[in-house]
Amino acid sequence: MLKDKHIILGISGGIAAYKSVVLLRQLVKAGAEVQVVMTPNAREFIQPVTLSSLSQKPVVTEFFSANTGEWHSHVALGEWADAMIVAPATASTIAKMACGVADNMLVTTYLSARCPVFIAPAMDLDMMAHPTTTRNLATLAGDGVHIIEPETGELASGLTGRGRMEEPEKIAAVLDAFFAAEGSLAGKKVLITAGPTYERIDPVRFIGNFSTGKMGYAIAEEAASRGADVTLVSGPTALSVTSPRIRRVDVESARQMLEAAETAFADADIAIMSAAVADYAPRVVAEKKIKREKSDLDSIELVKNPDIAATLGARKRDGQILVGFALETDHAMANGREKLARKNLDMIVVNSLADKGAGFGTDTNKISIIAAGHETPAEYPLKDKKAVAADILDYVETLCRP
Ligand code: CTP
Repeated sequence: MLKDKHIILGISGGIAAYKSVVLLRQLVKAGAEVQVVMTPNAREFIQPVTLSSLSQKPVVTEFFSANTGEWHSHVALGEWADAMIVAPATASTIAKMACGVADNMLVTTYLSARCPVFIAPAMDLDMMAHPTTTRNLATLAGDGVHIIEPETGELASGLTGRGRMEEPEKIAAVLDAFFAAEGSLAGKKVLITAGPTYERIDPVRFIGNFSTGKMGYAIAEEAASRGADVTLVSGPTALSVTSPRIRRVDVESARQMLEAAETAFADADIAIMSAAVADYAPRVVAEKKIKREKSDLDSIELVKNPDIAATLGARKRDGQILVGFALETDHAMANGREKLARKNLDMIVVNSLADKGAGFGTDTNKISIIAAGHETPAEYPLKDKKAVAADILDYVETLCRP
């Protein structure tokens, strides 16, 4: 959820400032663009160069740059940001924020920020418990600032009590959850099947297909970035997932994929069947490698695999949306319509191997979407699979609306 988000990381002068380095690293790793704003005292605790190296942006502390005389615009910063997090927030910075004492760049930026603001207080236990701090925090909470409560534990002073800044991982998780709750698929559970299935012949051979899983994985990442909780049931692929909102279930065969998909479908709101499921599997799997010389094998007896999309289609509840794919070599639209009806899908994404840049293994795709009850399909130009995933989910979202 933090991907491409603009975040101001405000650091005030407390020993917990060392944890801000880890927080910054986490935010950057999650794909956020981070601008660090430090109070002058914070620079006594950590070197700006450490932070600017990690954020790839100069750290802002002063209103004016001493070398160039350049003025740093807190207003522009405030407008740029999708969120501001002050971590650590010392008693002094909290007091200044509560009263609007804009005598440094951090508090001035806070006053200009239109985005949601989070603070992670950190101070000694007596400062934390002081009525002034309690009052200032209540003021900030009343002003809409999100307070990430400090932990109780050992403090830098050697005392034990409440005032330890929350761990960077948890602060990053709070920000992630905040953006997730704002996403267009927030609260939705999405099941996605992806990749090929392998049907074993013997311990070293299988029947499979050329699917790489790229389309399904792109849909999974896109759904997660819109706030959905995603279960990705994946056949064997070389891909990995990046979003922590994706739970990946690895399977090999169509039967295993069916089992995992049925389990996840029970409480799914949306199911997208992008896997290239092998239609047949060997009737028996040889326990030992079939030897060329010794075997008189000239054919393999096959049995039909279960149709996962059709199985889910048959038990679909009201309100569940089921999406299929049809990769065709000819009569793409007619075959797509037939599959839409036969599998009881709500919509089908049709792509034709006749179109250059569409299909397995490519980074691009060219799709048409047919929705149940809609005469005219939606046609899309050739795009990269990330953009195609966004188009597919935009269409799904129109079906979700009552
Ligand atoms: N599908 C599935 N289980 C199968 C076969 C297909 O869930 N055993 C799903 C695919 O994930 C896709 C849709 O059904 O969403 C259509 O897949 P496709 O292979 O095109 O359909 P088939 O029914 O296998 O038709 P054919 O191979 O004859 O074109």
